[in-house]
Amino acid sequence: MEIMRAVSCKKYGSPEVLQIIHCNKPQPKEDEILIKIYATSVTNSDIFIRSSKIPLMVMIPMRLMIGIRGPRKSIIGEVFSGEIEYAGPQTKRFKVGDQVYGLTGFSLGAYADYKCMKETDSKQGCLAVKPKNISFEEATSAAYGGLLAFQQLEKVNLTSKNKVLIYGASSTSGTMAVQYAKYLGAEVTGVCSSLNIEFVKSLGADEVLDYTKEESIKDLREYDLVLDAVGKYRTSKLKVACMNRLTKNGKYVSIDDGALLLESDRLNRITELIEMNAIKPVTDRTYEFEQIIEAHKYVEMGHKRGNVAITVNTKT
Ligand SMILES: NC(=O)c1ccc[n+]([C@@H]2O[C@H](COP(=O)([O-])OP(=O)(O)OC[C@H]3O[C@@H](n4cnc5c(N)ncnc54)[C@H](OP(=O)(O)O)[C@@H]3O)[C@@H](O)[C@H]2O)c1
Repeated sequence: MEIMRAVSCKKYGSPEVLQIIHCNKPQPKEDEILIKIYATSVTNSDIFIRSSKIPLMVMIPMRLMIGIRGPRKSIIGEVFSGEIEYAGPQTKRFKVGDQVYGLTGFSLGAYADYKCMKETDSKQGCLAVKPKNISFEEATSAAYGGLLAFQQLEKVNLTSKNKVLIYGASSTSGTMAVQYAKYLGAEVTGVCSSLNIEFVKSLGADEVLDYTKEESIKDLREYDLVLDAVGKYRTSKLKVACMNRLTKNGKYVSIDDGALLLESDRLNRITELIEMNAIKPVTDRTYEFEQIIEAHKYVEMGHKRGNVAITVNTKT
């Protein structure tokens, strides 16, 4: 049996509960592919799964779902990019050597050298061919931020006549949302803190508002779509104010609305837009696999700009 490295999380707690272990390399079934993972991300979902910091009200149902004392799947990690090392005889979409990226859904397991997956979309994940013009690390930003942002923006048929406000424009999903809304022709207002104003302008936002300054509220206009890209637990006076600045048929959506859809068709569209250079995923920091605890500490502070990637293996 071949051995691989993985990050194990056997109990909920601070980043120090994460341990690098050596375990058996997974064996693909006939209808599975085996992916050698080159990069993963530390996402808010990973922080949530590791720490299980859940409001008391939903603690019992959530723990029943994700695991009572620790995550049900001890090798965590939701996002990957890598290369197909083996394709089972019953697989059709991919071949050995294809470079892919995607999410692992409930099956987790992206914090490892290898991961087996089915090719078809399900709650156990989805994958697509990785954009050729970006690194494995950048691809993890595109998969997570892209799927989150596109799902919400596509609830409205955005055109050049629309005004859109992206609240939390410097987040992983916000950076993808600003660029996608601009690509669709909308007039985009990005909301971020003072530190990120120039950065959000560089993503293409027509206007940028600072949520840390109360006087920004007077600069709000009316929007056809307001997207909260940081989730329901992060707020400000400006966020509360923009909920009431919708046009007559305007829509307010949150990145937390509904479950994240694991759809490879959407991932394929993200690949196309990146290869057209219409969208460029943003990486804040990249850590080595052995630095997983430091990476979790950084992401948990809540101020990452774009994505935090982990290099799992280096492509030679
Ligand atoms: N629907 C689902 O199934 C699903 C699945 C996964 C995740 N999610 C949601 O998606 C959210 C977004 O994840 P993400 O990774 O894109 O976020 P993120 O990258 O972790 O967000 C960090 C960014 O948020 C900004 N920020 C922090 N506090 C803020 C505030 N009060 N107002 C405005 N901006 C603030 C920070 O900028 P500053 O430090 O400069 O403020 C930082 O750039 C998650 O938190 C989760 O709620 C939903």
